Amino acid sequence: MRKINIGLLGCGTVGTGVAKILLENKDLISSRAGAELNLKYVADLDPGRDRGIKFGEGVFTGDAFKVVDDPETDIILEMIGGEKIAKDLILRAIKNGKQVVTANKALLASCGNEIFGAAAAKGVDVAYEASVGGCMPIIKTLRESLAGNHVRSMTGILNGTCNYILSKITDDGTTFESALSEAQAKGFAEADPTLDIEGHDTAHKLAILNAIAYGMEINLKDIYIEGISKITPLDIEFAKQFEYRIKLLAISKKRGDSVEARVHPTMIPCKNLLSNVNGSLNAVTISGDAVGDILLYGLGAGMMPTASAVISDTVDLARNILSGSVGRIPLLSFRMAGIRKIPVMPVDEISTHYYFRFAALDRPGVLSKISGILGNYGISLKSVHQKGRKTNGSVPIVMLSHLCKEADVKKALDEISRLDVVGTRPALIRIEDDDQED
Ligand code: HSE
Repeated sequence: MRKINIGLLGCGTVGTGVAKILLENKDLISSRAGAELNLKYVADLDPGRDRGIKFGEGVFTGDAFKVVDDPETDIILEMIGGEKIAKDLILRAIKNGKQVVTANKALLASCGNEIFGAAAAKGVDVAYEASVGGCMPIIKTLRESLAGNHVRSMTGILNGTCNYILSKITDDGTTFESALSEAQAKGFAEADPTLDIEGHDTAHKLAILNAIAYGMEINLKDIYIEGISKITPLDIEFAKQFEYRIKLLAISKKRGDSVEARVHPTMIPCKNLLSNVNGSLNAVTISGDAVGDILLYGLGAGMMPTASAVISDTVDLARNILSGSVGRIPLLSFRMAGIRKIPVMPVDEISTHYYFRFAALDRPGVLSKISGILGNYGISLKSVHQKGRKTNGSVPIVMLSHLCKEADVKKALDEISRLDVVGTRPALIRIEDDDQED
């Protein structure tokens, strides 16, 4: 049986899981791949850490460049993360004609056009299933299973840390801080958890999905991003009363010749399947013109689920090497010549439904002042609620809107914020509700 040499760069959480699967399931993987996948190198700067793995003599090295420069290495698994070194190593591996697997969503979201361009020019594969949604086969689904579809929209929970935090606050009344600490202890969170909490990790993943769904260049900078740090237990409580749950969603919709792409906390009906995706689980609904709606669901973070996706890519690449079919599936799902610059709509141009919460003085006429301003901007209200008790002299007034334009909402809220009867800046949470007609 042919031996295919693997060089693993980075042996942190995911890298350790990858090494474990490669070593423990070696026979199974060989019989599926049709080749012996030999873990020839593991490069990491911390050789002393106990990973619960016994590597053979000469496997562990501190020199990742030696691994990508070794003519005997066939497939490079980049599990270092971050942008600088990882990018240098991937580009060097491509230059050396290696096949590459990466889980590095931040790098692909910011430098993917360059990396995929280099790989296409060299005629090598760069596989990246683990970069989005952990073990969920979302890249394979978009690149292969839905090849006959115009993708119309994608709606996903793509960050395990945020989903864990929101689930814990909603279901167990845990504080934000302790839910975040738990997510960190479980190994879901990024080294810098603000990437999770402020929505950037979700946006990285959405930028990658948009490219392969719509045949567009990867465009991170135009995605609207808002994280979960401003969500309060009060908003979560109101959401429950309206039979919604709050989720950090990645939302992408094809709108003619442009794409709507946004990441923000969203109220969705409790009966929506995504409402029931809790803890560190991820899920994404994809709507295609032929297929209708499909839903992928699975663990989006953590050592073994993410490693499972890396191994899937590694087996694919090994099969391609064996059959001489490297490059069979276009890197970004579309042939390079078919990839276009499709504009992402500015968030001000989107129309959706909104939840507003105002902290207002409990005085006659306050409600009519607020709703009057909303009305002046064409914002029609579906319902108005004043519930709860005074805190710091004000009461929460909650309004749910019909469909309206983001730009109008912003102008109205700016004006309302200036009213002397309204306290802090109003809270705004967008609502995705298929049942709402207007
Ligand atoms: N920090 C990420 C998450 C890891 O919480 O989902 C997986 O990309």
